[in-house]
Amino acid sequence: MEKVYAAFRSIGAYVPQKILTNADFEKMVDTSDEWIVKRTGIKKRHIAADDESTSDMAAKAAKIAIERAGLSVEDIDLVVMATVTPDYFNMPSTACLVSDKLGIKNVQAFDLSAACSGFVYALTVAKAFIESGMKKNVLVIGAEKFSSIVDYTDRTTSILFGDGAGAAVISATTNRDEAFVDIHASADGSYWDFLITPSPGSVNPASHTAIDEGLQFVKMKGNETFKLAVKTLTKDVKEILKNNNIEAGEIPHFVPHQANYRIIKAVGDSLGMREDQVVLTVHKYGNTSAASIPMAINDIYEEGRLQSGELMLLDTFGGGLTWASALIPFAPNK
Ligand code: ACO
Repeated sequence: MEKVYAAFRSIGAYVPQKILTNADFEKMVDTSDEWIVKRTGIKKRHIAADDESTSDMAAKAAKIAIERAGLSVEDIDLVVMATVTPDYFNMPSTACLVSDKLGIKNVQAFDLSAACSGFVYALTVAKAFIESGMKKNVLVIGAEKFSSIVDYTDRTTSILFGDGAGAAVISATTNRDEAFVDIHASADGSYWDFLITPSPGSVNPASHTAIDEGLQFVKMKGNETFKLAVKTLTKDVKEILKNNNIEAGEIPHFVPHQANYRIIKAVGDSLGMREDQVVLTVHKYGNTSAASIPMAINDIYEEGRLQSGELMLLDTFGGGLTWASALIPFAPNK
Protein backbone atom coordinates (compact mmCIF):
# COMPACT_ATOMS: atom_id res chain seq x y z
CA MET A 1 0.00 0.00 0.00
CA GLU A 2 1.23 3.50 -0.83
CA LYS A 3 2.53 5.48 2.17
CA VAL A 4 0.24 8.25 3.39
CA TYR A 5 1.52 11.57 4.74
CA ALA A 6 -0.05 14.57 6.48
CA ALA A 7 -0.37 17.81 4.45
CA PHE A 8 -1.15 21.30 5.80
CA ARG A 9 -3.94 22.27 3.38
CA SER A 10 -5.45 25.51 4.69
CA ILE A 11 -5.59 28.15 7.39
CA GLY A 12 -8.33 30.39 8.81
CA ALA A 13 -8.65 32.73 11.77
CA TYR A 14 -11.07 34.89 13.68
CA VAL A 15 -10.16 38.05 15.60
CA PRO A 16 -12.80 39.58 17.90
CA GLN A 17 -13.73 43.21 17.38
CA LYS A 18 -13.09 44.86 20.73
CA ILE A 19 -9.57 46.21 21.25
CA LEU A 20 -7.73 46.92 24.51
CA THR A 21 -4.77 49.25 23.97
CA ASN A 22 -1.86 49.97 26.31
CA ALA A 23 -3.49 53.35 26.94
CA ASP A 24 -6.58 51.48 28.21
CA PHE A 25 -4.36 49.54 30.66
CA GLU A 26 -2.79 52.78 31.91
CA LYS A 27 -6.28 53.62 33.21
CA MET A 28 -6.81 50.15 34.74
CA VAL A 29 -3.53 49.29 36.51
CA ASP A 30 -0.21 50.88 37.50
CA THR A 31 1.56 50.49 34.14
CA SER A 32 2.67 52.48 31.10
CA ASP A 33 2.67 52.08 27.34
CA GLU A 34 6.45 52.47 27.48
CA TRP A 35 6.91 49.58 29.98
CA ILE A 36 4.60 47.23 28.08
CA VAL A 37 6.16 47.92 24.66
CA LYS A 38 9.73 47.71 25.98
CA ARG A 39 9.23 44.51 28.00
CA THR A 40 6.79 42.65 25.71
CA GLY A 41 6.41 44.36 22.31
CA ILE A 42 2.62 44.38 22.79
CA LYS A 43 0.64 47.49 21.74
CA LYS A 44 -2.91 46.14 21.74
CA ARG A 45 -4.93 42.93 21.99
CA HIS A 46 -8.42 41.89 20.85
CA ILE A 47 -10.99 40.85 23.45
CA ALA A 48 -14.09 38.70 22.85
CA ALA A 49 -17.53 40.14 23.54
CA ASP A 50 -19.22 39.04 26.78
CA ASP A 51 -21.59 36.77 24.82
CA GLU A 52 -18.86 35.41 22.55
CA SER A 53 -17.39 32.08 23.65
CA THR A 54 -14.26 30.17 22.68
CA SER A 55 -16.38 27.81 20.55
CA ASP A 56 -18.02 30.76 18.73
CA MET A 57 -14.62 32.12 17.71
CA ALA A 58 -13.29 28.64 16.90
CA ALA A 59 -16.27 27.82 14.66
CA LYS A 60 -15.74 31.02 12.65
CA ALA A 61 -12.04 30.29 12.10
CA ALA A 62 -12.76 26.63 11.27
CA LYS A 63 -15.43 27.49 8.69
CA ILE A 64 -12.91 29.61 6.78
CA ALA A 65 -10.23 26.89 6.97
CA ILE A 66 -12.63 24.22 5.66
CA GLU A 67 -13.72 26.47 2.76
CA ARG A 68 -10.13 27.35 1.88
CA ALA A 69 -9.27 23.63 1.83
CA GLY A 70 -11.99 23.23 -0.81
CA LEU A 71 -13.82 20.81 1.47
CA SER A 72 -17.23 20.66 3.09
CA VAL A 73 -18.02 19.77 6.71
CA GLU A 74 -18.97 16.25 5.59
CA ASP A 75 -15.33 15.65 4.62
CA ILE A 76 -13.97 16.31 8.14
CA ASP A 77 -13.44 13.06 10.05
CA LEU A 78 -11.68 14.32 13.22
CA VAL A 79 -11.85 17.56 15.22
CA VAL A 80 -8.96 18.35 17.58
CA MET A 81 -9.44 21.49 19.62
CA ALA A 82 -6.52 23.03 21.52
CA THR A 83 -7.64 25.35 24.31
CA VAL A 84 -7.15 26.09 28.00
CA THR A 85 -10.19 28.37 28.07
CA PRO A 86 -12.97 25.92 27.14
CA ASP A 87 -16.61 27.01 27.07
CA TYR A 88 -17.22 24.73 30.07
CA PHE A 89 -14.96 23.19 32.71
CA ASN A 90 -15.00 20.20 32.12
CA MET A 91 -17.76 18.99 29.83
CA PRO A 92 -18.91 19.07 27.16
CA SER A 93 -15.66 19.50 25.29
CA THR A 94 -15.36 22.66 23.22
CA ALA A 95 -14.59 20.40 20.23
CA CYS A 96 -18.11 18.92 20.53
CA LEU A 97 -19.63 22.42 20.66
CA VAL A 98 -17.64 23.56 17.61
CA SER A 99 -18.67 20.42 15.70
CA ASP A 100 -22.31 21.16 16.51
CA LYS A 101 -21.98 24.81 15.42
CA LEU A 102 -20.42 23.74 12.11
CA GLY A 103 -22.86 20.87 11.47
CA ILE A 104 -20.15 18.19 11.73
CA LYS A 105 -22.01 15.06 12.80
CA ASN A 106 -20.96 11.64 14.09
CA VAL A 107 -17.27 12.49 14.02
CA GLN A 108 -14.66 12.00 16.76
CA ALA A 109 -14.03 15.34 18.49
CA PHE A 110 -11.96 16.14 21.56
CA ASP A 111 -10.08 18.90 23.38
CA LEU A 112 -6.35 18.96 23.98
CA SER A 113 -4.77 20.88 26.86
CA ALA A 114 -1.20 22.10 26.33
CA ALA A 115 -1.65 25.86 26.89
CA CYS A 116 0.28 27.92 24.31
CA SER A 117 1.74 24.75 22.78
CA GLY A 118 -1.75 23.38 22.08
CA PHE A 119 -1.93 24.04 18.33
CA VAL A 120 1.39 22.37 17.53
CA TYR A 121 0.54 19.52 19.92
CA ALA A 122 -2.73 19.11 17.97
CA LEU A 123 -0.79 18.99 14.71
CA THR A 124 1.17 16.01 16.07
CA VAL A 125 -2.16 14.28 16.75
CA ALA A 126 -3.45 15.06 13.25
CA LYS A 127 -0.25 13.68 11.69
CA ALA A 128 -0.43 10.46 13.72
CA PHE A 129 -4.10 9.82 12.90
CA ILE A 130 -3.52 10.48 9.21
CA GLU A 131 -0.32 8.48 8.83
CA SER A 132 -1.88 5.52 10.64
CA GLY A 133 -4.66 5.57 8.04
CA MET A 134 -7.39 6.20 10.63
CA LYS A 135 -8.43 9.67 9.38
CA LYS A 136 -8.26 11.65 6.13
CA ASN A 137 -9.19 15.27 6.89
CA VAL A 138 -8.48 16.57 10.38
CA LEU A 139 -9.74 19.94 11.57
CA VAL A 140 -7.15 21.35 13.99
CA ILE A 141 -8.17 24.40 16.01
CA GLY A 142 -6.43 26.65 18.52
CA ALA A 143 -8.82 29.08 20.21
CA GLU A 144 -8.84 31.00 23.47
CA LYS A 145 -11.00 33.40 25.38
CA PHE A 146 -8.09 34.17 27.69
CA SER A 147 -9.88 37.27 28.96
CA SER A 148 -12.18 34.85 30.85
CA ILE A 149 -9.31 33.80 33.17
CA VAL A 150 -7.40 37.10 33.39
CA ASP A 151 -7.42 39.24 36.54
CA TYR A 152 -7.67 42.77 35.14
CA THR A 153 -6.35 44.20 38.43
CA ASP A 154 -3.05 42.25 38.09
CA ARG A 155 -0.61 44.25 35.97
CA THR A 156 1.86 41.37 35.69
CA THR A 157 -0.48 39.13 33.67
CA SER A 158 -3.41 41.21 32.36
CA ILE A 159 -1.38 43.21 29.83
CA LEU A 160 -0.08 40.05 28.13
CA PHE A 161 -3.10 38.17 26.86
CA GLY A 162 -5.69 38.50 24.09
CA ASP A 163 -8.51 36.44 22.58
CA GLY A 164 -8.89 34.84 19.16
CA ALA A 165 -9.01 31.65 17.12
CA GLY A 166 -7.13 29.94 14.32
CA ALA A 167 -7.80 26.70 12.47
CA ALA A 168 -6.18 24.48 9.86
CA VAL A 169 -7.21 21.48 7.80
CA ILE A 170 -4.64 18.69 7.71
CA SER A 171 -5.30 16.09 5.01
CA ALA A 172 -3.91 12.79 3.84
CA THR A 173 -1.64 12.88 0.80
CA THR A 174 0.60 10.42 -1.03
CA ASN A 175 2.74 13.25 -2.40
CA ARG A 176 5.96 13.24 -0.32
CA ASP A 177 6.66 16.91 -1.25
CA GLU A 178 3.50 18.01 0.60
CA ALA A 179 4.27 16.09 3.80
CA PHE A 180 5.15 17.52 7.22
CA VAL A 181 8.96 17.46 7.25
CA ASP A 182 9.23 17.01 11.02
CA ILE A 183 7.29 17.74 14.20
CA HIS A 184 7.85 17.03 17.84
CA ALA A 185 6.41 18.03 21.17
CA SER A 186 7.64 17.69 24.71
CA ALA A 187 6.88 18.60 28.33
CA ASP A 188 8.42 18.91 31.79
CA GLY A 189 5.75 18.65 34.46
CA SER A 190 8.17 19.60 37.24
CA TYR A 191 7.47 23.22 36.26
CA TRP A 192 3.69 22.73 36.66
CA ASP A 193 3.32 25.79 38.91
CA PHE A 194 5.00 28.29 36.53
CA LEU A 195 1.67 28.91 34.76
CA ILE A 196 -1.50 27.87 36.49
CA THR A 197 -5.18 28.58 37.02
CA PRO A 198 -5.62 27.02 40.47
CA SER A 199 -9.45 26.68 40.39
CA PRO A 200 -11.83 25.13 39.46
CA GLY A 201 -10.38 21.64 39.47
CA SER A 202 -10.10 18.58 41.69
CA VAL A 203 -7.46 20.27 43.88
CA ASN A 204 -9.53 23.43 44.39
CA PRO A 205 -13.17 22.78 43.40
CA ALA A 206 -15.30 25.87 42.84
CA SER A 207 -16.04 27.53 46.19
CA HIS A 208 -16.70 30.97 47.59
CA THR A 209 -13.26 30.88 49.22
CA ALA A 210 -11.57 30.01 45.92
CA ILE A 211 -13.31 32.92 44.19
CA ASP A 212 -12.52 35.31 47.07
CA GLU A 213 -8.85 34.37 46.72
CA GLY A 214 -8.96 34.86 42.94
CA LEU A 215 -7.90 31.27 42.23
CA GLN A 216 -9.92 31.27 38.98
CA PHE A 217 -7.36 33.63 37.41
CA VAL A 218 -4.16 32.73 35.58
CA LYS A 219 -0.98 33.06 37.66
CA MET A 220 2.45 33.10 36.09
CA LYS A 221 6.04 33.10 37.29
CA GLY A 222 6.83 35.46 34.42
CA ASN A 223 10.54 35.95 34.76
CA GLU A 224 11.34 32.26 35.39
CA THR A 225 9.08 31.26 32.49
CA PHE A 226 10.79 33.82 30.24
CA LYS A 227 14.27 32.44 30.92
CA LEU A 228 13.23 28.81 30.41
CA ALA A 229 11.33 29.72 27.22
CA VAL A 230 14.39 31.33 25.62
CA LYS A 231 16.69 28.45 26.63
CA THR A 232 14.32 25.64 25.65
CA LEU A 233 13.13 27.14 22.36
CA THR A 234 16.63 28.01 21.18
CA LYS A 235 17.78 24.42 21.80
CA ASP A 236 14.59 22.95 20.29
CA VAL A 237 14.61 24.88 17.01
CA LYS A 238 18.35 24.35 16.51
CA GLU A 239 17.79 20.61 16.95
CA ILE A 240 14.90 20.32 14.49
CA LEU A 241 16.86 22.25 11.84
CA LYS A 242 20.01 20.15 12.41
CA ASN A 243 18.09 16.85 12.37
CA ASN A 244 16.65 17.77 8.97
CA ASN A 245 19.82 19.31 7.50
CA ILE A 246 18.11 22.66 6.98
CA GLU A 247 19.92 25.97 7.46
CA ALA A 248 17.99 28.70 9.32
CA GLY A 249 18.57 31.04 6.34
CA GLU A 250 16.54 28.70 4.07
CA ILE A 251 13.32 29.08 6.10
CA PRO A 252 10.89 31.50 4.42
CA HIS A 253 8.57 31.74 7.45
CA PHE A 254 9.66 31.38 11.07
CA VAL A 255 6.33 31.41 12.99
CA PRO A 256 7.07 31.48 16.72
CA HIS A 257 4.51 31.53 19.51
CA GLN A 258 3.70 35.20 20.12
CA ALA A 259 4.21 35.59 23.89
CA ASN A 260 6.85 38.29 24.08
CA TYR A 261 8.86 40.10 21.40
CA ARG A 262 12.02 39.70 23.49
CA ILE A 263 11.67 35.88 23.48
CA ILE A 264 11.08 35.85 19.71
CA LYS A 265 14.06 38.17 19.11
CA ALA A 266 16.40 36.14 21.34
CA VAL A 267 15.51 32.87 19.59
CA GLY A 268 15.57 34.46 16.10
CA ASP A 269 18.96 36.09 16.76
CA SER A 270 20.48 32.87 18.07
CA LEU A 271 19.46 31.22 14.78
CA GLY A 272 20.77 34.14 12.74
CA MET A 273 17.28 34.77 11.29
CA ARG A 274 16.72 37.85 9.14
CA GLU A 275 13.85 40.15 10.13
CA ASP A 276 11.90 39.30 6.96
CA GLN A 277 11.86 35.60 7.96
CA VAL A 278 10.24 36.16 11.36
CA VAL A 279 6.43 36.41 11.51
CA LEU A 280 5.37 38.92 14.16
CA THR A 281 1.85 39.55 15.43
CA VAL A 282 2.47 40.01 19.17
CA HIS A 283 2.27 43.82 18.83
CA LYS A 284 -1.36 43.65 17.65
CA TYR A 285 -2.83 40.48 19.21
CA GLY A 286 -0.77 39.99 22.40
CA ASN A 287 -0.45 36.39 23.58
CA THR A 288 -3.48 34.39 22.40
CA SER A 289 -2.09 31.09 23.72
CA ALA A 290 -3.14 28.14 21.51
CA ALA A 291 -4.53 30.54 18.88
CA SER A 292 -1.30 32.47 18.48
CA ILE A 293 0.47 30.37 15.84
CA PRO A 294 -2.54 29.72 13.55
CA MET A 295 -3.53 33.42 13.79
CA ALA A 296 0.01 34.37 12.75
CA ILE A 297 -0.02 31.89 9.84
CA ASN A 298 -3.39 33.29 8.75
CA ASP A 299 -1.95 36.81 8.75
CA ILE A 300 0.83 35.94 6.29
CA TYR A 301 -1.64 33.93 4.21
CA GLU A 302 -4.07 36.84 3.94
CA GLU A 303 -1.21 39.26 3.19
CA GLY A 304 -0.29 37.01 0.22
CA ARG A 305 3.10 36.18 1.78
CA LEU A 306 2.53 32.42 2.20
CA GLN A 307 2.97 30.55 -1.06
CA SER A 308 2.31 26.92 -1.91
CA GLY A 309 5.29 24.71 -1.02
CA GLU A 310 6.95 27.26 1.27
CA LEU A 311 8.32 25.90 4.52
CA MET A 312 7.12 27.12 7.92
CA LEU A 313 9.20 26.66 11.08
CA LEU A 314 6.83 26.68 14.07
CA ASP A 315 7.97 26.86 17.67
CA THR A 316 6.03 27.24 20.88
CA PHE A 317 6.28 27.16 24.66
CA GLY A 318 3.60 27.26 27.35
CA GLY A 319 2.02 26.12 30.58
CA GLY A 320 2.70 22.56 31.70
CA LEU A 321 5.44 23.34 30.92
CA THR A 322 5.10 22.23 27.32
CA TRP A 323 6.95 23.02 24.11
CA ALA A 324 6.93 21.95 20.49
CA SER A 325 8.40 22.72 17.11
CA ALA A 326 7.63 21.76 13.54
CA LEU A 327 8.83 22.08 9.96
CA ILE A 328 5.80 22.04 7.68
CA PRO A 329 5.32 23.08 4.05
CA PHE A 330 2.16 24.97 3.14
CA ALA A 331 0.35 22.55 0.83
CA PRO A 332 -2.96 23.98 -0.40
CA ASN A 333 -5.06 21.93 -2.82
CA LYS A 334 -4.21 22.94 -6.37
N1 ACO B 1 3.75 47.55 34.23
C1 ACO B 1 4.75 48.08 34.96
N2 ACO B 1 5.55 47.35 35.73
C2 ACO B 1 5.34 46.01 35.75
C3 ACO B 1 4.33 45.39 35.01
C4 ACO B 1 3.50 46.23 34.22
N3 ACO B 1 2.50 45.74 33.46
N4 ACO B 1 4.37 44.07 35.23
C5 ACO B 1 5.38 43.82 36.07
N5 ACO B 1 5.98 45.01 36.41
C6 ACO B 1 7.11 45.24 37.31
C7 ACO B 1 7.26 44.14 38.33
O1 ACO B 1 6.43 44.34 39.43
C8 ACO B 1 8.73 44.27 38.68
O2 ACO B 1 8.88 45.31 39.59
P1 ACO B 1 9.99 45.23 40.78
O3 ACO B 1 11.30 45.15 40.08
O4 ACO B 1 9.75 46.49 41.52
O5 ACO B 1 9.65 43.98 41.55
C9 ACO B 1 9.38 44.69 37.35
O6 ACO B 1 8.32 45.21 36.55
C10 ACO B 1 10.08 43.57 36.63
O7 ACO B 1 9.22 42.42 36.61
P2 ACO B 1 9.63 41.09 35.87
O8 ACO B 1 8.55 40.07 36.06
O9 ACO B 1 11.03 40.70 36.28
O10 ACO B 1 9.67 41.60 34.36
P3 ACO B 1 10.10 40.84 33.06
O11 ACO B 1 11.11 41.62 32.34
O12 ACO B 1 10.39 39.39 33.32
O13 ACO B 1 8.77 40.90 32.16
C11 ACO B 1 6.97 39.42 31.51
C12 ACO B 1 7.59 40.28 32.62
C13 ACO B 1 6.60 40.34 30.37
C14 ACO B 1 5.75 38.71 32.04
C15 ACO B 1 8.03 38.38 31.02
O14 ACO B 1 8.61 37.76 32.13
C16 ACO B 1 7.47 37.32 30.11
O15 ACO B 1 7.14 37.57 28.98
N6 ACO B 1 7.47 36.03 30.56
C17 ACO B 1 7.22 34.87 29.72
C18 ACO B 1 5.79 34.73 29.28
C19 ACO B 1 5.66 33.45 28.50
O16 ACO B 1 6.39 33.15 27.59
N7 ACO B 1 4.71 32.62 28.88
C20 ACO B 1 4.57 31.31 28.25
C21 ACO B 1 3.44 31.24 27.37
S1 ACO B 1 1.92 31.70 28.12
C22 ACO B 1 0.89 30.29 28.22
O17 ACO B 1 1.30 29.17 28.13
C23 ACO B 1 -0.55 30.52 28.45
